[in-house]
Order: sequence, then C-alpha cells, then structure tokens
Amino acid sequence: MTKITHTQKDILAAHKKYCRLVITEDSPSWHRLVECADGTLEYRLGAGKWKDMTTRKFITFVRAAVQAAQSHQIEYFAIQAPVAMLPHILKEHDSQWILSTLAENLTLGSYQFLKYKSTKSKRKELKEILVCGELSAAEKNAFTRGCIVGTATNLTRDIANTSADDMTPTKLGNAAKKAVSGTTASVKVLGEKELQKLKMGLLLAVGAGTKHETQLIVMEYWGAGKPKKDEKSKAKQPIVYVGKGVTYDTGGLNVKPSGHMHDMHMDMTGGATVIGAVAAAAKLKLKKNIVGIIPAAENAVSDRAMRAGDIVTAMNGKTVEVLHTDAEGRMVLADALTYSERFNPKVVLDIATLTGAALSALGQHASAIMTKDLKLQNTLQELGETSGDYVWPLPLWDEYQAPLKSVRADLANIAVNFSRFGGAIEGGAFLANFAPKKTPWAHIDIAPRMESIASDKLAKGATGEPVRLLVRFAEQF
Ligand code: BES
Ligand code: MN
Ligand code: ZN
Repeated sequence: MTKITHTQKDILAAHKKYCRLVITEDSPSWHRLVECADGTLEYRLGAGKWKDMTTRKFITFVRAAVQAAQSHQIEYFAIQAPVAMLPHILKEHDSQWILSTLAENLTLGSYQFLKYKSTKSKRKELKEILVCGELSAAEKNAFTRGCIVGTATNLTRDIANTSADDMTPTKLGNAAKKAVSGTTASVKVLGEKELQKLKMGLLLAVGAGTKHETQLIVMEYWGAGKPKKDEKSKAKQPIVYVGKGVTYDTGGLNVKPSGHMHDMHMDMTGGATVIGAVAAAAKLKLKKNIVGIIPAAENAVSDRAMRAGDIVTAMNGKTVEVLHTDAEGRMVLADALTYSERFNPKVVLDIATLTGAALSALGQHASAIMTKDLKLQNTLQELGETSGDYVWPLPLWDEYQAPLKSVRADLANIAVNFSRFGGAIEGGAFLANFAPKKTPWAHIDIAPRMESIASDKLAKGATGEPVRLLVRFAEQF
C-alpha cells in the first residue's frame, strides 16, 4: 500500500530519495525521467497549458502521474501541491477542493488489487507519495479529508473485486462491521428468520437458491444525534443510502449467457459503495445522520431457486410476478426501500448495478440517475462533476409504468412484452413502486461504472464509484 503524506517544506527541500514530479505545459502524453547533477530523479510530465486545465482533466492527470511513477518503479515520489498552477480550476473551485481532489486521486491512482496473486511481483512498489508545500490549516484538513475518502473508496474496490465465495452475504455484513470499527457508526445484520418476520418476500425469493444465507445489512451513523421517538427535527432526519448487495448474479434459472457472468461477483458494488460512504462519513466525523441499507443475497441456480412465473409478495404488500429471474436487483432493492421508511428519511438514494441497458444508454463514462425530483437531480449532477463520479439523468415518467402491469399479479419484474427498450428506465420505474412516497428519492444505476476503462487511469476492476459523490452529498445535503 502506498502511503500518502504531506510536508510544509518545498519540494526542493525533500529528501534525496524522492523522485520529484515536475508538471510541465507540454502536451499531456509527454514525459521524461531525468537524473539531475546531484543524483536525484525528476519525472517531468506534460499536463497541457495550465490555463486549459479543467476539473475533469485534473482528476485523471493526478491518477496518470501515479500510474507513471508505478510503471517506472519509483519508490518515493514527491509532488508540489499544484494550487498556483491551476488558474482555470480556481475559477470554479477553491484551493481546498484542489487539495482534497489531489489526495483522493493520488489514493485512487495508487490502488492495486493483489489479493489473489500467489507470487509477489519483483517490481519495486510505490511506497510513498509526499505532497510538498505550505498549506493553511483548512487546506491541510482538505488534504486529510481527501485521503480518508480515497481510502474508503479503495476499501469499496477491495470488497467489490473479491470473489463471491469470499464475499457471501454474511461476509459482506462482516466487511461492513470491519469498515466502521473504531468509529461511532454501528452495524446490525438481519438473517432469514428476521426477514421472514418482516415479510421481505422479494429479497428472500432472490436468495432462495443458495446455501448462503440472505442478509439485510443496516449501518447507522448518527453524527447529528439520533432523533428521539416522535422528534420532528428536520436536521436529524437521516439520509438513507440503499445499496444492491447481490454477491453473485448467475441470472437465476434464466441463466446468463457465457461472457456475461464472470464479473457478476461485482453485483454487490452498490452495497460496497454504501459501506465505503458510511465508513468515510464516520471517519470524517460528519455532523450528519446517515443510514445504509444493503439487501444481500446470491442469485443462484438450484431446485429451490425462484422460478420465472412465480408470484411473490413484497414487504409493502404488493405482489410481483417474476417474469425474469435475472431482474433480481430491483427485487432486493424494493424490500430495502420499503424498509427505509422506518427511519423517517430526509432523502433516499439507491445505488445499484441494475441493468446492462444503462451501459447501452450511456456507455461507460457515467452512471444513470433517475428521479422525479428535479432539484435532487441537479444536486447529484453538480456534485458528480465536483467529485468526479459523473452521473447523467434518464426520465422516470409515469408512461414507463404501463409495461410493468402483470396479468396475474400487481406488478411484473420486467416489461410484460419482454421488450428490452428503455431497460434501465424500466428498472427505475419498477423501484418507484416501492420508494417512500413523500420523500425525495433517486435511483442511481451504476452498472456503467462497475469496472474501470483505460481513460479512467485506474487499476483494472472496480472503480469504487460513486463513493466520492455519496460523501459529498452527505456533506452538503
Ligand atoms: N446485475 C445485472 C446488470 C448488470 C449487467 C450489471 C452488466 C453490470 C454489468 C442485473 O441483475 C441484470 O441481470 N439485469 C438484466 C435485466 C433484464 C433481465 C431486464 C439485464 O441488464 O440484462
Ligand atoms: Mn441479474
Ligand atoms: Zn444483478
């Protein structure tokens, strides 16, 4: 693991073991590793004209610099805090944003997932990144904040990258507990007996085909003080994050075709981001109330698995015809959304790798958001730009409800004509039937951002998105 630290000293005063990053105005792919007369190393990296630097480019530039250091097997890397050289960014953001974003992306850029590598690589590891330069107390706090958020995001990536046998619903619950240990946040895990008592028929149906017990993981962080029973204080109403925790998605009896199944150990990414976000909030000691709810189940194939054509009853009393066993994410989320109401939430966001159709709609550069609350939509879009976890809206109009009307039950879990058109929206439209009625709610389909792409300048595998967005949302909402 790479240590990320700060010193008030200038980069030129750094110890000789550090290779210094020198950001130049050469074109972005230009780079040189130079040995100086005193035997120290300098890595010169083009970033383009400073006046042309944008928020988006800055985020990937920082990660690219770390990847370059890794590929040159640099062990100690020093960077001058680049505040002064970003005039364009300083029009949109303050220096605290720069320090925080720098720390986040140094942390994200240095992440590697080596859990399953049997031999240690002989390559030299990047041991430390030292950020140099005098910072105000507020800037230093922002830097520390960025390190905490980056580390929580990397924890989310670890959880998401872990194979399904090592991240069963029970193990996901343990990961949630471990993530918040040493903080004031708490975790409660409900098992199948309790879920039966709660009548969570949809969540239980999804997990019926496996030996791994279905769980509902509930994380609570009361940074603004827990509201007393019947207390009407608005400030104490929690933000609720609901994260899809399908620890493996075979598709169920409508089994997935080959080439579409191997990465479904990551189908609990929504849950993993909720764990990361609650852990970050607790570590940052935010004066906010946040509840994380993660319905965790494995969608497996067996004689006990739910069948296409089965009708199951949700916690809110609605009956659902399972037209397709691979549309399981919306089922587990539905009961979790109903459960969220008991916390009297101020706002509910659900985060889920819900549909391949979201990838068809947006490609792999943004997650899809669906909400009827325009203000919430704008807030999420703006914070997406600020954090680097980009989101883009799809409509959630009532017209999309008609195809979900089942002949035999109240609702079908996919469009009854099996149309794939607007698949991401149909997922959101299904969830709208279970979201708390008078509370602002948004659905975030993160399937497009489940795995990194080359232009992200991140290690292959989980991106940990949108932990940064969820933390900013908690800080500002
Ligand atoms: N977990 C998948 C969605 C997914 C696909 C996430 C690819 C990440 C990458 C989800 O449970 C699923 O199978 N959705 C189906 C829905 C369909 C049956 C209506 C899909 O997208 O095909
Ligand atoms: Mn599925
Ligand atoms: Zn799924």
